[in-house]
Amino acid sequence: MMSKVFNEKFDSLQSLFKAYRASERCLAAFNVNDNYDLRAVINAANVVDTNVMVMTYPPVIEAVTAEVFRGMVDGLKKYAKNSLYLHLDHSTSVDQCKWAIDAGYDSVMIDGSQHPIDKNIAMTKEIVDYAASANVLVEAEIGKIMGRDVVVKSADDFLASVADVKRLYEATGADIIAVGIGTAHGFTPEKPKIYFDRLKEISQAITAPLVLHGGTGIPDEDIQKSITMGISKINIGTIVHTTYMRYTKLGIDAAGDGAYPPYIMKDVLPEIERVVIDRLRAVNI
Ligand code: 13P
Repeated sequence: MMSKVFNEKFDSLQSLFKAYRASERCLAAFNVNDNYDLRAVINAANVVDTNVMVMTYPPVIEAVTAEVFRGMVDGLKKYAKNSLYLHLDHSTSVDQCKWAIDAGYDSVMIDGSQHPIDKNIAMTKEIVDYAASANVLVEAEIGKIMGRDVVVKSADDFLASVADVKRLYEATGADIIAVGIGTAHGFTPEKPKIYFDRLKEISQAITAPLVLHGGTGIPDEDIQKSITMGISKINIGTIVHTTYMRYTKLGIDAAGDGAYPPYIMKDVLPEIERVVIDRLRAVNI
């Protein structure tokens, strides 16, 4: 088998994802919170020599602002060997997506998955239209990613319907689509049951690159299998912030009143890098 290239340069994220889906490659996307874990992801991507995406959850841009996060990523770009993209993850707000687009984000996710399909389509279309002139990529979602505060009652409740995915894609022209196929956000006490048959049906129904959420708890072999079935972006978050918090606490506890952030973080960064490298290697196959 020919080995795949993960540091190829593209004119746009749209062309990256089209090429990745066609060649069964996947872009790893990591949720980050500040300059420290952002820097750790860049260092890890340099070690693996790969393109990478960083993502901010809504509370992060509310706290830090979209403009400052854009500025931090721009400032650190010269330390990245390969392409580095910035994405707004899981925004349920049309206004917030517009804010990130105006601030120069490369990509936004408008998550209307908690709403009936017609409302999801309307929200997604509004963002696709708004993003078009700025050439910003748009991710939409059908079905639900379990865990956290998402309430699911049955498989019918979270599993993406093929008809809905097709309808949303055709009505909105969203660039990439996250699909609920059984994965959950965070550490999962049991191996998640991934509905690969549904993923296959969806990938046969539409050509859009598909997105897998809940990357922390998905076994490597399931990540790899999903990539052969149209998954072109995988989101990984919990393993990053739990590693960040655990090692920061250890450092603070050891230093006591003398705890000084840059010194603590000097020892935390390699720990975050280690888990990010591990996940990058599971995705870049
Ligand atoms: P994890 O927190 O399970 O890695 O999932 C992250 C995610 O899917 C963000 O959208």
